[in-house]
Amino acid sequence: MLTLSAVSARYGSVPAISDVSISVGEGEAVGLLGANGAGKSTTLRAISGLIRATSGSITFLGADLAALPPHKIAELGIAHVPEGRQVFPELTVKENLEVGAYIPSAKAERNRTLELVFGIFPALAERRNQLAGTMSGGEQQMLAVGRGLMLKPRLLMLDEPSLGLAPVVTDATFAKIQEVHAMGTAILLVEQNVSRALGMVQRAYVLESGKVIIQGSSAELANNKQVQAAYLGM
Ligand SMILES: Nc1ncnc2c1ncn2[C@@H]1O[C@H](COP(=O)(O)OP(=O)(O)OP(=O)(O)O)[C@@H](O)[C@H]1O
Ligand SMILES: [Mg+2]
Repeated sequence: MLTLSAVSARYGSVPAISDVSISVGEGEAVGLLGANGAGKSTTLRAISGLIRATSGSITFLGADLAALPPHKIAELGIAHVPEGRQVFPELTVKENLEVGAYIPSAKAERNRTLELVFGIFPALAERRNQLAGTMSGGEQQMLAVGRGLMLKPRLLMLDEPSLGLAPVVTDATFAKIQEVHAMGTAILLVEQNVSRALGMVQRAYVLESGKVIIQGSSAELANNKQVQAAYLGM
């Protein structure tokens, strides 16, 4: 459903990713792995239109994303849960979720989707009137994922959902992501926690210095000597 062909992007004169070719199939869960500065977040930003690719092509369900502004890309069915969660601290949980349904098609179904999200995340339902800024890191992460779901996306892109979370909270977050995936939403998961990511995706790509250096099924990557040495501490 999503195809990047030889995509390059830069910040000013600094190249961030070069010739990145990745794909995500309908309903698939795919990982994008790599160390700090490898270009993972930049790849997601290029997909959601927050940064423009300088070369290469990005298509989603047959549409060329190159010329589209971010809200049009969201309208096609791509939700981007950014690094660092970025919930609105002064808004309540419910208000944060409502903001997530900012495109017309999602707005029309907002109340129904809200109940769906509360069904997946009962902890958010209990805290619907709490200010987001007063919630724990794990709760804010759930809220950020929930806000992405308010778009009713076909593809949910998650940028390091486990960042800063205790292992038990990471477990809970991943279980919820898996639940969303099981409902038919395709997932593009950026993670530095490689062992956790490989436990939930079918395929993954490893980025290094802005380039894809390894790709394969989760089993292939888990057995790859280079991946084991660099990311799995083996
Ligand atoms: N706003 C920016 N301005 C200039 N350079 C940037 C900017 N954002 C990222 N970069 C550079 O682009 C490269 C890729 O960064 P990116 O944020 O995509 O990495 P990442 O894989 O997401 O890393 P991390 O795991 O630390 O989040 C890095 O060299 C980074 O310094
Ligand atoms: Mg990043």
